[in-house]
Amino acid sequence: MKNFKITKLLAIFIAIVIASCSSDDGEVVFTGPSQTLVQASFTYSISSTNPNVILLNNTTQGQGEFTSEWDFGDGEAYTMDEPGLEEVSYSQPGQYEVRLIVTNTAGFTVASQTIRVDENGICPNSVCGGGGTDPSSLKGAANGFSVGTIVRDNRLTGMHDEVIRRDFNNITSEYQMKMNIMYPSEGTYDFGPSDAIVDYGVANGIDVHGHALIWHNATPNWVENFSGTDAEFEDMVRDYIRTVLERYRGKVRSWDVVNEAIEDGSNELRNSVFRQRMGDDFIEKCYQMARDVDPDVLLFYNDYNMASDSGKRAAMFEIADRLKALDLIDGIGAQLHISYNGPARSEIQAVVNGTVSRDLLMHFAEIDIRTNPEGNTSVTSLSSERALLQKDKYKELAEIYTDIPQANKFAFTVWGLKDNESWLLDFWGVPDFPLLFDANFDPKPAYEGVLEGFQ
Ligand code: G3I
Repeated sequence: MKNFKITKLLAIFIAIVIASCSSDDGEVVFTGPSQTLVQASFTYSISSTNPNVILLNNTTQGQGEFTSEWDFGDGEAYTMDEPGLEEVSYSQPGQYEVRLIVTNTAGFTVASQTIRVDENGICPNSVCGGGGTDPSSLKGAANGFSVGTIVRDNRLTGMHDEVIRRDFNNITSEYQMKMNIMYPSEGTYDFGPSDAIVDYGVANGIDVHGHALIWHNATPNWVENFSGTDAEFEDMVRDYIRTVLERYRGKVRSWDVVNEAIEDGSNELRNSVFRQRMGDDFIEKCYQMARDVDPDVLLFYNDYNMASDSGKRAAMFEIADRLKALDLIDGIGAQLHISYNGPARSEIQAVVNGTVSRDLLMHFAEIDIRTNPEGNTSVTSLSSERALLQKDKYKELAEIYTDIPQANKFAFTVWGLKDNESWLLDFWGVPDFPLLFDANFDPKPAYEGVLEGFQ
């Protein structure tokens, strides 16, 4: 906030303190803050009659007297909150930080929301996708949601940079925003690679999806072998989550707080070190830690095989229900590492239906589509037959995603740019061509399939 605004805030705060301390005979008796902070919160919607107008709803709940003021992010003076909805018009394209400042005798809290405006008006979910009218790029064809891909700090220049900026408006770090990379030894962080990725996103107006704070497969050895007490372990996790979320506040729009917590087969919680040391409610604890640091960042739960495994899907939605009851989750990430011949459309739709029915954002988070699920080692190239079957499956995913209600749209993310960079090649050890671009960054039929599915 600009300095004059802080000064004004402090003046309001002092005025409230004095007002709450003055006694009947006019003598100012400072009784000290008898209140606790009231957490500012608000929701917004885009006017159904004017795409350049938002309706702001102050949802702050608190005990005792407090004042609410709006900063509409347009450089104008604060506005006292009035009963009912605040209507605000943004005619100029750009990005605006809308803030609600709630003040009482204990101090003030701030809730904020980034509003993006383009030539079509205010962008739904802050995603300016061209309204699905520009088929010359993936992000231009997407209507009201982001199109994402993964990045590494050494793949942000040259053709990687050109393709990312042409087709995508959301990026996920493939591995460099995980605990084992950012927090390699106790008390020592390494934010070099993650800063490079976040700075690239911010510099290019590309949303950054944080992946993943807690994952059993990316846990540093020192955490696996943590020698302190359980309470000290939990404090360490809280400090790690606070350190990362504070560093990237306002720059990373969303986080996978916990990734892949469900055991294959049993559909029970994996017996990770986090569960062992923090208890069966470690997931709720980790999301509360994140929410306590940044009430505005979007919090996702992310997992795989949710389409093909109905038991795992049910277990995942049980986690989502527990988190939703505590207002600790905003969305579900379905990884969708699938094949040209499965899972069926109906199984993928079941993941969407369960997410939408819970009023959560849907992230198709790690899409790749195997063309050689049989593991044929003699395959040397992508046949035209398999290329067309893969195109059909990508088109199916794009159609399913495009049909999601606007309020539940977030991002359609592919897990890699070009075939020869896919993790699947090492993972399965057989040839495959799972992505949208070939080894020369040329779009494949799969790319056309996504464009057609977005129409
Ligand atoms: O780049 C370094 C290289 O410099 C170094 O010599 C080498 C040996 O240490 O490591 C290389 O980094 C590896 C990186 O992939 C790039 O190849 C990391 O060790 C390795 O852990 C990392 O694997 C990633 C894996 O998650 C674990 O973080 C994969 O790229 C990534 O595709 C994979 O993605 C996961 C999602 O996060 C969750 N869902 C499943 C998905 C596939 O496993």
